[in-house]
Amino acid sequence: MRFERRVPECALVIFGANGDLAKRKLLPALYRLAYDRRLSAGFAVVGISRTPLSDEQFRAKMQEAVRRFSEDTEFAPDVWETFARSLFYVAGDVADLGLYRGLGKKLTEIEQTRQTGGNVLFYLSTQPSQYAPVAQGLGSATLGQNRGWRRLVVEKPFGHDLASARTLSEQLHTVFSESQVYRIDHYLGKETVQNILAFRFGNGIFEPLWNRRYVNHVQITAAESIGVEGRGSYYQEAGALADMIHNHLLQVMATIAMEPSASFRADSVRDERSKLLRSIRPIKPDEVRENAVAGQYGPSRVGGADVPGFRQEPGVDPQSETNSYAAVTFFVDNWRWAGVPFYLRSGKRLPKRVTEIAIQFNAAPLAIFDGDTDSTGPNLLILRIQPEEGISLRFLSKRPGTGMTLRPVSMDFNYGSSFGERSPSAYETLLLDALIGDATLYTRQDMVEASWAAVEPIQNVWRETGHAFPNYAAGTWGPAESDAMLVRRGHRWRKP
Ligand code: BG6
Repeated sequence: MRFERRVPECALVIFGANGDLAKRKLLPALYRLAYDRRLSAGFAVVGISRTPLSDEQFRAKMQEAVRRFSEDTEFAPDVWETFARSLFYVAGDVADLGLYRGLGKKLTEIEQTRQTGGNVLFYLSTQPSQYAPVAQGLGSATLGQNRGWRRLVVEKPFGHDLASARTLSEQLHTVFSESQVYRIDHYLGKETVQNILAFRFGNGIFEPLWNRRYVNHVQITAAESIGVEGRGSYYQEAGALADMIHNHLLQVMATIAMEPSASFRADSVRDERSKLLRSIRPIKPDEVRENAVAGQYGPSRVGGADVPGFRQEPGVDPQSETNSYAAVTFFVDNWRWAGVPFYLRSGKRLPKRVTEIAIQFNAAPLAIFDGDTDSTGPNLLILRIQPEEGISLRFLSKRPGTGMTLRPVSMDFNYGSSFGERSPSAYETLLLDALIGDATLYTRQDMVEASWAAVEPIQNVWRETGHAFPNYAAGTWGPAESDAMLVRRGHRWRKP
């Protein structure tokens, strides 16, 4: 069982320990692991950033972060006191090789005082431009290979196209082998994304239907109601296609569409995901217009308040051509899925926050009832990732009365009420996995490359043709062209 496991004796080194990700996600996740008594006595965290701080000052800052960002875990002073004693700090510039010598000394000290056996997980929570310099710095002080195990966690973006993803990987590989590199995609750590595997491969009744004979099409939606939230300068370099579809949504699609793996071992599962991603049909330049839609929100009034357009957000270029919405039709060229459209969409400033997968099945071959079925078709399986995680199966039922008319009804499973237990955050799951050495939910370089191969042709065409932005108002479901993309194939986006 994944959650009966414990973090072994080791050190976790966080580069960028003073940054947003460390404060909002990593420290609260580690604190929760401490709260659940999943940390070994010898576990230690070494935070690294430029600001000069003593261990005590670092602990105080991290306490503030844990109090502020631990959403569903009470602050227990005794748990904190013990955990805080495992936090250490090293100040330095990642471009200065002296930092890595200092870090080496600190790690030796920790190894002796806390019996970590030389086991170290390095976590890159910095600007992407610092990934290669940190890896090289670690290499220069022989910290990449040493006593005990050494691993490296890398946050996205993994490059901004296929070529830059390959370059980054080569740079990391000069110090770390592929099996040491853990590329994080936090969607794979979400309980409900993991539950897709349980749903598909733990049950016998769905798999026979899971193919082109019964599935009409699949819709994967990740809608956000927020805008760029102070991340304007990062986001305008990325856009929805690279920020969400390239990684999170293609990983979700791979989990939905992959073949059953022979076992639940990391490479067995990852080989199947990778194979699926490599089976995605590359979109030819002259097909991009029909199969991909870019959007950018303009100013509007939402819920009685004025909301700025994307180009008016802080840090965003007023002429920006970045997509804050992207929708793509992918096809998978294999026997299971040939001809089945997979529609993926993601956007900011949509009407609500919702992530779901809707699998629409073919209609009954003959309509013998005078049904008032709606045009989304009778049989729909919805896997809701967030919020209110759950699964619903929609089918037609007889409407009470003397006539024989049908109406869609749904059978619902709700994660929260069925289990009544708290779900761990994605970062708790993924950190624990990396510390244990379980890479099942981490992305491999071959998957990163396959995903770039799928989205790069779209990026290239969009860069050349430009856009008439803004093309949707903040608070609406994206540009009209996105609806037209589905209507062309006789389909319609679900309103989640
Ligand atoms: C991140 C993206 O990876 O995922 C953000 O960079 C996005 O732009 C976020 O807001 C969404 O994650 P979640 O877990 O809130 O769905």
